[in-house]
Amino acid sequence: MRSNLGKRRFHELQNGVALPGSHHAPRAFSLTALRPWAGPNPICDTSFRARMILRVNRISSSIRIPVNDLSRHNAPLRERLSRALECVLESGWYILGPRVAEFESRFATYCGVDQCVGTGNGTDALEIALRACGVGPGQRVITVANAGGYSTGAILATGATPAFIDIEPSTHLLSLDQLHGALSERVGAIVVTHLYGQMAPMHDVMNMADAVGVPVIEDCAQAHGAQLDGRPAGAWGACGCFSFYPTKNLGALGDGGAIVTHDSGLAERVRALRNYGWIEKYRVDVGGGSNSRLDGIQAAVLLEKLPLIDGWNERRRAIARRYSEALADRGIVTCRGAGLDDAVHLFVVRIPNRDTVRQRLAEAGVGADVHYPVPDHLQHAWSSERWARTNLPHTEASCREVLTLPCFPELIDEEIAEVITAFLQVTRC
Ligand SMILES: Cc1ncc(COP(=O)(O)O)c(C=O)c1O
Repeated sequence: MRSNLGKRRFHELQNGVALPGSHHAPRAFSLTALRPWAGPNPICDTSFRARMILRVNRISSSIRIPVNDLSRHNAPLRERLSRALECVLESGWYILGPRVAEFESRFATYCGVDQCVGTGNGTDALEIALRACGVGPGQRVITVANAGGYSTGAILATGATPAFIDIEPSTHLLSLDQLHGALSERVGAIVVTHLYGQMAPMHDVMNMADAVGVPVIEDCAQAHGAQLDGRPAGAWGACGCFSFYPTKNLGALGDGGAIVTHDSGLAERVRALRNYGWIEKYRVDVGGGSNSRLDGIQAAVLLEKLPLIDGWNERRRAIARRYSEALADRGIVTCRGAGLDDAVHLFVVRIPNRDTVRQRLAEAGVGADVHYPVPDHLQHAWSSERWARTNLPHTEASCREVLTLPCFPELIDEEIAEVITAFLQVTRC
């Protein structure tokens, strides 16, 4: 499992920019010699992007409207969070314990499932879920390649290999045709990512998976509170995996994650796997266990925030509606999935000259980000692997064109108007 420092660097490397509060200077990518077996790599021409990122970084100090602002998010909660942290301090329970158990119970109810098991972070949740579903060496797991590498990393950690499928260009979610094709071969599981807060087409996914008896693991790290036809993210597949990384719709003050499920047997294996494989103290009954537990401080923070998430998501949807209406006339493609019950973790547009637009927005004081610039099969560490030798034209095109605009509940109306004005100005032909 990656250390927290390693995880932060991973996020930065994924995004080419430092996260808020990072001690690391933002850095540009150095992607060379990717996919040597397939000639020039379309994503590999990064010198232009690297120059752009450096320019954006240089003027980022003048950004007035950031993509996200955690200090604004947490400031109104300061007193209640301080009191909650004080209680944990006094309780003497710092890892697992009563606050974690209470959060697990409340979050299970929120997700409409029977069981929730807290983990150290969202990537561990994916790895543990895969292991609990019986995935291991020699198996293949279906996943998309445009979701930041988290599922790919988790699959590889189990000893299995990813079987990438392409995306639907209008939503950036998995393509059902591609899923259908991939299921003609034997696979150990499917990881379905509800990207940007949009629900994947779960009715069809579940029908296809159930027909061949393959477990579905939902990656809900960007979809806290999202629903499809009244059924929450995480309540569709064998289990759902969440991250409570501070920037998430439900974010802790550090790392945290959870696995939710209806299946009590699966939950029991997950409970063991997050705690060395112990069913009982000092007795390893489940192989492949690790140390990945939610701590009392994060649980206390999450308990304070849980009652507020629906209001925050409503505000995110209102912001997304304003952007969508304003950009529709200009023919700008926005990534919106099933819509109404979308958690709008990120508001993403597609734009051909993305890097130039991002730079001009920065010059106008408006932050923008890229989720995500490099598809998993073209990542430097993985691109020469046999399982990475695949063509995913829609995934690759989206990674060249996606741009994330500021969208967080505390964004005020004047700022939304300013983002729209700046965006329309810099994208004017
Ligand atoms: C879609 C997705 N999956 C998984 C993760 C991993 O979560 P964590 O950073 O808590 O390991 C993230 C978050 O960063 C994510 O956005």
